Amino acid sequence: MRIEEYTPELQKAEVFKVLETLQDNWLTEGKKTQELEATLAEYFNCERVVMLPNGTLALFAALKVLGIGPGDEVLVPDFTFFGSASAVILTGAKPVFVDVDEYDFNISVESAEGSISSRTKAVMPVHVYGQSCDMLSVAKLAQRYGLLIVEDAAQGMGVTFDDRHVGTFGDIGCISFFADKTITTGEGGALILNDAELAKECIYFKNQGRLNRGKFVHERVGYNFRITDLQAAIGVGQLARLGEVIKRKQVIRSAYYRRLRECPGVKIPIDNGFGNVVPFRANILVDDPEGLSAYLRERDIATRRFFYPLHLQPSLTPENCVVRSKPIISIRLFESGLMLPSGLNLTEHQISRVCRTIEEFQTTVHDTVAAATERREVYDESTS
Ligand SMILES: Cc1ncc(COP(=O)(O)O)c(C=O)c1O
Repeated sequence: MRIEEYTPELQKAEVFKVLETLQDNWLTEGKKTQELEATLAEYFNCERVVMLPNGTLALFAALKVLGIGPGDEVLVPDFTFFGSASAVILTGAKPVFVDVDEYDFNISVESAEGSISSRTKAVMPVHVYGQSCDMLSVAKLAQRYGLLIVEDAAQGMGVTFDDRHVGTFGDIGCISFFADKTITTGEGGALILNDAELAKECIYFKNQGRLNRGKFVHERVGYNFRITDLQAAIGVGQLARLGEVIKRKQVIRSAYYRRLRECPGVKIPIDNGFGNVVPFRANILVDDPEGLSAYLRERDIATRRFFYPLHLQPSLTPENCVVRSKPIISIRLFESGLMLPSGLNLTEHQISRVCRTIEEFQTTVHDTVAAATERREVYDESTS
């Protein structure tokens, strides 16, 4: 049977919450969204949470209400999902791609500092693959250069730095509830806010420039960035099980790492120790991720490569972004990283099958190919 890379897990609680909402005959944003926002705010221990249609638009909205626009630059790690950069471009500003740390894959503050210009207005630390950035160093950098902080905590549900939830350190934090995230609303995003005035501006922004619907006087130029209560109902159900989901993710990753630690040519990433880690997936580093991925695919096991470096994306050019120094670690991570199947319903037997297939590739197939390549190189040299 095929082992998927990830599948969302919905239980009866979510189904009942959606049914409740349908029975209430309320489809647009309403009571369920308010309930989700209030429960999330309590969980994050922040002033206010504002739901938005997805993580990319949450980042966009955060940058917009903070006044980022044409002529501005935002420091963005080169190793992140495309949406971190496209949100900046949508404001008219330019993302400046900076390198990341080779151990936790998160923004290198040193690289960020080296890329600051007079146009730099903000830094976007991205909490990648379930580990917090070094928020103390990011905050110091921001303070030294007078930068705003927009945290991309799209993958950061449950992740902490010094016992504080990620997304609560910056001027605004953003979460994604896309289907492959720790908890999901299908599509969905949230703004984490600690400033009541800024929270108000976010509501104006998402609600056509009004604080409440039902009137046609618009105090600001706002837009429609609302969600539906059907999505919020799924979120309320999911959030109730968050602790259980986090534990399951940690157990799955540990099971992989215990076994693969001994596998030749497989490197296991280490935790940075800043706080709670909520593994996005079980990740490994190998010298031929594409070959291993193809070998697993042929055996009905789905994997994903790491992020393709943003500065190499065909659509990101000097017209819309800036690169001041080559993000070497980001390239190296793409060239070695592989995400293993990490669905919550993965069985021990399936984990064992994935590990066995990786061991097979690493010890036989890969070694044979490497030896053949080496022989050919010797032959080529001796005949040239
Ligand atoms: C790091 C990061 N930033 C931003 C996003 C964008 O979120 P969404 O897919 O909800 O727009 C994602 C989603 O995958 C992400 O992983």
